[in-house]
Amino acid sequence: MRAVVYNGPRDVAVQNVTDATIEKPTDVLVKITSTNICGSDLHMYEGRTDFKPGSVFGHENLGQVVEVGNAVDRIEVGDWVAIPFNIGCGFCKNCERGLSAYCLTTADKSVMPNMAGAAYGFADMGPYRGGQADLLRVPYGDYNCLKLPPDAEERQNDYVMLADIFPTGWHCTELAGLRPGESVVIYGAGPVGLMAAHSAMIKGASQVMVVDRHPDRLKLAASIGAVTIDDSKASPVDQVMELTMGVGADRGCECVGYQAHDPDGEEHPDMTMNDLVKSVKFTGGIGVVGVYVPQDPGAQDPLYQEGQIAFDHGLFWFKGQSIGTGQCNVKAYNRQLRDLISNGRAKPSFIVSHELSLNEAPDAYQHFDARDDGWTKVVLKTAH
Ligand SMILES: NC(=O)c1ccc[n+]([C@@H]2O[C@H](COP(=O)([O-])OP(=O)(O)OC[C@H]3O[C@@H](n4cnc5c(N)ncnc54)[C@H](O)[C@@H]3O)[C@@H](O)[C@H]2O)c1
Ligand SMILES: [Zn+2]
Ligand SMILES: [Zn+2]
Repeated sequence: MRAVVYNGPRDVAVQNVTDATIEKPTDVLVKITSTNICGSDLHMYEGRTDFKPGSVFGHENLGQVVEVGNAVDRIEVGDWVAIPFNIGCGFCKNCERGLSAYCLTTADKSVMPNMAGAAYGFADMGPYRGGQADLLRVPYGDYNCLKLPPDAEERQNDYVMLADIFPTGWHCTELAGLRPGESVVIYGAGPVGLMAAHSAMIKGASQVMVVDRHPDRLKLAASIGAVTIDDSKASPVDQVMELTMGVGADRGCECVGYQAHDPDGEEHPDMTMNDLVKSVKFTGGIGVVGVYVPQDPGAQDPLYQEGQIAFDHGLFWFKGQSIGTGQCNVKAYNRQLRDLISNGRAKPSFIVSHELSLNEAPDAYQHFDARDDGWTKVVLKTAH
């Protein structure tokens, strides 16, 4: 089968690899039809993780089931399924509580002995190959496959967002504690920030403010009714204060991660966290889904080489704020979000800028990594 293979920093190629197959009776084999490139892939693409050369990318996957193992009961050949980026078992202490991003049995214990959480095509998240390929092996298929309605095939660009970024944006607003009628400021207008904004709108936020400096991305935020804040023009904190009568937003979302930078491109891994503490009100809540890592040898900032940031803990404590972090437990939300899509209440495909063939992946990585104008979200199609 064809697959998008990581060969080293900024070097990916579409190569022939051995076909994915059923390895355990609980596996499901999916013929991938739509698979996205994600901002999380870019941390790996740039060589800023210990993603191993030879690994296959792809954790935002949708397709049609072509084979099921003997122990699979619910999923059938022919089903259209969206596959959460997390690989859970369904029966461990964390999966049972809905914390499928922190599965205890599928995790790679060589990373650290108490490691929790696994994903397809992801640094430190196990040996599982990604789905930027013709076929994907889905472990514990009954648990990990979300069945899609009859309009799945035509509406793939909406449903494929259920694998990661729509639930992740939603999760960020949950971590922040957003309630109807409240205001929220979102740092980052990449796909994840835009999905957080879409989620906040659906949840009935009174005011959704989105901070970035790319006009094309801010334009998409404005298209769904968000107030846009260009941090290359003036301090984002001052702009939020002005928009909230000096009080600050009720809630804040971090949708950037450790490669946060100033508008000139210099990285400051503490930048969005400290801007959030300043621009969220006293007693407000902050959700952090942008990725941070325990070690980053490539960081310019010596503190962050050890995963540390100069966090303004004094002001955070003084304001009585709360914070929630981590990978999204996709299974906690994907069923309800699927139903919002199928009933026309959500349309996450509004962010898709490019629908390309799998063979065009190397070029697509380059443009998306450069955040080139108009490259908001790439969906790769295996059929083209
Ligand atoms: N927690 C999870 O489960 C989960 C899931 C998916 C993605 N992620 C992470 O979410 C983050 C965002 O993903 P994405 O696909 O939207 O990525 P992206 O890189 O396309 O978007 C990030 C955006 O942040 C903007 N930005 C950079 N510095 C900023 C700053 N200081 N202030 C405001 N905006 C700034 C950039 O201009 C860019 O538009 C990444 O770290 C990704 O790894 C986490
Ligand atoms: Zn992703
Ligand atoms: Zn588990």
